[in-house]
Amino acid sequence: MFLWRRWHDIMFRGVFISITSYGVVGGIGRLLSLATPWIDVGAATDVFDAVLALMSVALIAALLKMLPQILVLPTRITLQKAYAQLEEEIRQRRAAEAMVQRFQEIEANEAQVRQAQKMEAIGQLTGGVAHDFNNILTVITGTIEILADAVKDKPQLAGIANMISAAADRGADLTRHLLAFSRRQPLQPRATDINALVVEAGRLLRPTLGEQIEIESMLAYDSAPALIDPSQLSTAILNLALNARDAMPEGGKLTLETKNVTLDDDYAQLNRDAKPGSYVMIAVSDTGQGIPAALLHKVFEPFFTTKDVGKGSGLGLSMVYGFVKQSNGHVKIYSEEGHGTTVKLYLPRAAGAPELPAADTSRPAVARGDETILIVEDDALVRDYVVAQVRRLGYRTLAASNAAEGLVLIDNPERIDLLFTDVIIPGGMNGRQLAIEAAKRRPGLKVLYTSGYTENAIVHHGRLDADVLLLAKPYVSADLARMIRTALEA
Ligand SMILES: Nc1ncnc2c1ncn2[C@@H]1O[C@H](COP(=O)(O)OP(=O)(O)OP(=O)(O)O)[C@@H](O)[C@H]1O
Ligand SMILES: [Mg+2]
Repeated sequence: MFLWRRWHDIMFRGVFISITSYGVVGGIGRLLSLATPWIDVGAATDVFDAVLALMSVALIAALLKMLPQILVLPTRITLQKAYAQLEEEIRQRRAAEAMVQRFQEIEANEAQVRQAQKMEAIGQLTGGVAHDFNNILTVITGTIEILADAVKDKPQLAGIANMISAAADRGADLTRHLLAFSRRQPLQPRATDINALVVEAGRLLRPTLGEQIEIESMLAYDSAPALIDPSQLSTAILNLALNARDAMPEGGKLTLETKNVTLDDDYAQLNRDAKPGSYVMIAVSDTGQGIPAALLHKVFEPFFTTKDVGKGSGLGLSMVYGFVKQSNGHVKIYSEEGHGTTVKLYLPRAAGAPELPAADTSRPAVARGDETILIVEDDALVRDYVVAQVRRLGYRTLAASNAAEGLVLIDNPERIDLLFTDVIIPGGMNGRQLAIEAAKRRPGLKVLYTSGYTENAIVHHGRLDADVLLLAKPYVSADLARMIRTALEA
C-alpha cells in the first residue's frame, strides 16, 4: 500500500520492493513448514529456502550499493537548518532591494531639488537683468518715436530710426520672456474658457504651421474654466506649437487636448513642484523628432536651445515654465526620441464661470488732455523721458524722484489730477504706499502705476489688485496716452 501510494516520493524503490518480496516469500515458506506434521511439503520448503537465499544475496548487494547514498542523506535537523538559512538569505535580499530603492528615490529627489534651486537662481538673475533692461528700453522705445517723427522727410535717417525701433522691439520681446521665466511679469488672471481659447489658438496657428502639419483637437466637453491670464496662455500655446513645428520639418500631426485632471499625492511625491488638487490640463503633442532623455531636464532653462544661431533663442519653454508656475500651475514634458513630444500644462481651476473677454480698450486716436500729472520715477533717464512724453500729449507735469519729494508736491496747493508712479521707488515707501498716503491728503486722486515687473506691492498671489491700473514697461507712447486717459476717467 505504502509503495503504491507514495511511489513518486520514495527513494531506493528497488530495495523497498526487494525487502517486501523477501518478507512475503519468507512468510509463505514459514507457513508451509508449520504445515509439515499434516502434509509433506519437504521439497517446497527447500525451493522457498533456495529462493530466499538468492534474494538475501541480491538484497545485501543492493544495500551495499545504496550505502554511499544513505550516508549522505540529510537528516531532519540539517534540513531545518538549511531551510532557516534560506529564509535568512531571502530576508537579507529583500532588505537590500528596499535599500537600493530608497537610495534611488533619495537620488531622484535630490536631483529634483538641485534642479529647482538651479531654476530659482537663474530666475533671480534673469529677473534682475530684465528689470534694469526694461527701464533702458522704456526710454529707447519711447523716444525713438519722437526721433522718427522729426526725421520722417529724411529717408536715410528715418531708416535708421526704424532699425533702432525694431531692435528695441526685439529687446522688449526678450525681456518679456525673461520676466515671464523669472515669474515676475504682471499677470491678469481671470476665469478663462480653456476650450474656446484652444480653438482660437488652433485657428491662429493654421497659417503658421504650414500645409504639411495636421492639427487635431481633442477637447473635453466638460473642461472647467481655468484661472489664468488668457493672453499669456495664448503665447504659451504658440511657443509650444512653434517648437512642435520645428520638430516636424517633414510634416506630422499637432494635437491639442484639454481635460479636467486631478493630481494626487502620489503624483506630487514624484513631482515635487506639483501640488495635489484639481486642474485643467492642456496637452500639446507632436509627432516630431523628440528630445533625447539626457537633455530633457534642460529644456526649460533660459537660452537652452539646440537650434542654429538665429533660429532659436531658447526662451520659448522658459516662458511657458515661468508663466505656468507663476499662475500656480504645473508643467510636465514627456518625450520619446524619434517619436514625438508632449507638453502638459496643468492650470488651476477657476471657481466661477468664465468671464467674457474684456472689451477692447484701445482707442483709435491718440488720447490727449490738459490735466496735471505728477510723475514719480527714480530713474532720471526714464523720468525725463516720461515727462517729455506726457508733455507732448498736452498735459502739465510735475516730477519727483522718490516718495518724499512726491508727498511734498502733493501737499502743495497746486492742482494735481493724476499720480503716475513707478511701483518700486526708493525712500522707504513703494508706489502703492505712496498712492495710499496721497489719497489721504487728496481724496479722489487718480493713480496709474508703471513697472518693469510687479512686486507684492500691487500683485497678490500673482494677480493685480482689483482697483489697480498698471502700465507695464516698456511701453510705446500710444499705450501711455491710452492708459493716462483711462486712469483720469476711472
Ligand atoms: N516639441 C519639441 N520637439 C523636440 N524638441 C523640442 C520640442 N520643444 C522643445 N524642444 C527642444 O528644447 C529646446 C528649447 O526649446 P525653447 O522653445 O525653449 O527654445 P527654442 O525653440 O530653441 O527657441 P525659441 O523658442 O526661443 O525660439 C529646443 O531648442 C529643442 O531642442
Ligand atoms: Mg521654442
